[in-house]
Amino acid sequence: MRLAYDPALARRASDPGEFGRVAVLLGGDSSEREISLMSGQAVLAALTRRGVAAAAFDPQEHSLLELLEQRFDRVWIALHGPGGEDGTVQGALEYLGIPYTGSGVAGSAIGMDKLRTKRLAQAIGVASPEAMELHGPQDFELALERLRVPLIVKPASQGSSVGMTKVESPEMLPAAYAAAAAVDRSVFAEPWITGREYTVALLQGGALPSIRIETPTGFYDYQAKYFRDDTRYFCPSGLSQPAELHLQSLAVAAFAAAGGEGWGRADFMMDAAGRALLLEVNTVPGMTGHSLVPMAARAAGIDFDELVWRVLETSFVRVRSGPR
Ligand SMILES: Nc1ncnc2c1ncn2[C@@H]1O[C@H](COP(=O)(O)OP(=O)(O)O)[C@@H](O)[C@H]1O
Ligand SMILES: [Mg+2]
Repeated sequence: MRLAYDPALARRASDPGEFGRVAVLLGGDSSEREISLMSGQAVLAALTRRGVAAAAFDPQEHSLLELLEQRFDRVWIALHGPGGEDGTVQGALEYLGIPYTGSGVAGSAIGMDKLRTKRLAQAIGVASPEAMELHGPQDFELALERLRVPLIVKPASQGSSVGMTKVESPEMLPAAYAAAAAVDRSVFAEPWITGREYTVALLQGGALPSIRIETPTGFYDYQAKYFRDDTRYFCPSGLSQPAELHLQSLAVAAFAAAGGEGWGRADFMMDAAGRALLLEVNTVPGMTGHSLVPMAARAAGIDFDELVWRVLETSFVRVRSGPR
């Protein structure tokens, strides 16, 4: 039993019965477990309100094999971070023959890797801040020379700003590198961009209205994302119509270049010249009531329950094939 991928099978559903029994994958064992539990519970509640036969399933507590034993027909993936958003769960579901929402194995793995995402986006003409991979102290001098301070050091594969540091003076670089290297083998540095920050949600091949994010510190970090109440969001973002359409097209193109499918989000910052630079793509963005994708959907007239339904529809492109 395997899954086949066929984009021609994309379609809308009008009846909850078309989805069969749905497992909402939530929790998991990444550093973003708590956020995933919140996303997953919100998704489960929405599916239930819409009459879908759905249940929560935490892969930290149950083997994925139980999805077959419990006869689930498809999976809504609400896992964030490594182990859930990086292609590993997607690969297991391919092997088990259970259709799932969002990006496939390759797109998930690439999206989890910020450095590879940037390279693929740049290859199709979507600009991204210059990046330099840091393998160890031997690279510090060149990075400082090329990128100058302030710069930002990031682990390539964690989400929620874990292990990221703004480096404001050269002496800060060793500690910043150590913090990133503690959570990931791949570490890189980017120049610090001082312009405005935007994010664009992607759904079923199109882009939703962009959101402008304003933080008092200029750093939309873990605290700003989940705990501070002085982070401000603007949706519509205030861009002119042509600028909005341009940013949306960059988001669609970057997401596709990274192999993204179904739904997701692309993060950008504007440089001093007003050019949008891609920071990263997210293949399983947050889905709590306060999250960015639901906010963008609302601005497009799509309420939370409808958004969750449409994301579930993205699983229709994956179908069982071969003998059981
Ligand atoms: N090059 C940069 N210059 C300035 N701020 C940045 C830069 N890269 C990231 N940031 C800030 O850090 C936040 C998190 O970075 P991002 O690459 O989107 O990773 P993640 O969201 O996975 O933690 C961004 O939302 C932005 O506020
Ligand atoms: Mg981000």
